[in-house]
Amino acid sequence: MKYKAPRGTQDVLPVESWKWQRVESVFRETAARFGYEEIRTPVFEETELFARGIGDTTDIVSKEMYTFEDRKGRSLTLRPEGTASVVRAFVQHGMGRGARVTKLRYFCPMFRYERPQAGRYRQFWQWGLEALGSSNPAIDAEIIHFSVSFFAGLGIRNTGAKLNSAGCPTCTPDYNELLRRELAPKLGEFCQDCQTRYERNPRRMFDCKNPHCQELLDGAPSILDALCDECRDHFAAVRAHLDAIGVPYTLDPKMARGLDYYTKTIFEIHYEKLGAQNALCGGGRYDGLVEELGGASTPACGVSSGVERLVMALEEEGAFGENAPAPDVYLVAGEGDCASSNVELAARLRERFAVEMDYQGRSLNKQMQEAGKLGARFVVVNNGPGGPLRVRESGAGWEVEATLESVADVIAARMAE
Ligand code: HAM
Repeated sequence: MKYKAPRGTQDVLPVESWKWQRVESVFRETAARFGYEEIRTPVFEETELFARGIGDTTDIVSKEMYTFEDRKGRSLTLRPEGTASVVRAFVQHGMGRGARVTKLRYFCPMFRYERPQAGRYRQFWQWGLEALGSSNPAIDAEIIHFSVSFFAGLGIRNTGAKLNSAGCPTCTPDYNELLRRELAPKLGEFCQDCQTRYERNPRRMFDCKNPHCQELLDGAPSILDALCDECRDHFAAVRAHLDAIGVPYTLDPKMARGLDYYTKTIFEIHYEKLGAQNALCGGGRYDGLVEELGGASTPACGVSSGVERLVMALEEEGAFGENAPAPDVYLVAGEGDCASSNVELAARLRERFAVEMDYQGRSLNKQMQEAGKLGARFVVVNNGPGGPLRVRESGAGWEVEATLESVADVIAARMAE
């Protein structure tokens, strides 16, 4: 074969795409119950938006962006995540005017030049929520609750959130200094990446995958002991709400998110059976981002989640069953000269039902087998002009005769029983 999908991308074929549709439709229903409306932003944005929004020193911006120049020499980037784009749209369209909190959802592809492996792709899909305009800890709890209950609604039960605080510009400079002071004596033993992180953002060292670095971090001071009063109270209120709703969580003071915009609450939900790439979703509060991107000071909070990983986790849980969507009716061309009347019959039935039929002149037996394989609820056998149609319900021992005029009503009546 000559062409292949580019490395790190994948085709979602019909054997899989029905699972994606189920995920997306449960996402829409759940988001509607929580009051989040859809936003669709462009696939590419000015590069500067992401550099500024996500942070120059993050892996995403420094190593992973698909950046290109258009024909006029403008630097554009395929979006690596949704939050910066949503904030850009929020500011551009003055969505923050008025008293309401703006609650938005999205379900769309993202692009990161990462080393592909199971659960990690260069084009991947995210569902996400962003709530802009409130610092109320109820919002943080709502977004975490949404994530847990959306996963549960799909069939992944017993997920708990890992919870931490990223602090705020009042408390993090002191904490960073404290961390540097504590880690300085062992700095030479850390990997090269951690030594760079030490200078730029020492909390990122917690994110290192190197087991030796993790050992060296044992006993390092916890951000949760270094929060300012406001961050501490806010964090306590988020936890109290989660307790009240009954959302399970564990505190993870070493959790560091890979994007720079976070303040206060940060969280992730993991599904351990996925292996190395087991973060189903991640998010948190980003109270400074709207202002950073040119808007009025607006507190905000959100979450995003990789759809490929979610589908993998649901497969692991057996949550889809074997039930690919089946046609209501399979139309069988019988012994007589009925191929052309089947075209007319299919057209009529398709006004009300999902109908499959044979296009290849196969034998009656083969067509029956095909109807069974597809899981069609009804089989209609057409034995040629003038003759009655035989309508049979698979596996129910129910069979009646019908005419071209009556067949749709006969099926509809049986369905309504
Ligand atoms: P993130 O942690 O970079 O956060 O990504 C969120 C989720 O997207 C991850 O937990 C993972 O499920 C999925 N994901 C990330 N990279 C890949 C990849 N290369 N292949 C497959 N799945 C991937 C964000 O993107 C933030 N925008 C979250 C947020 C929203 N914070 C506030 N609002």
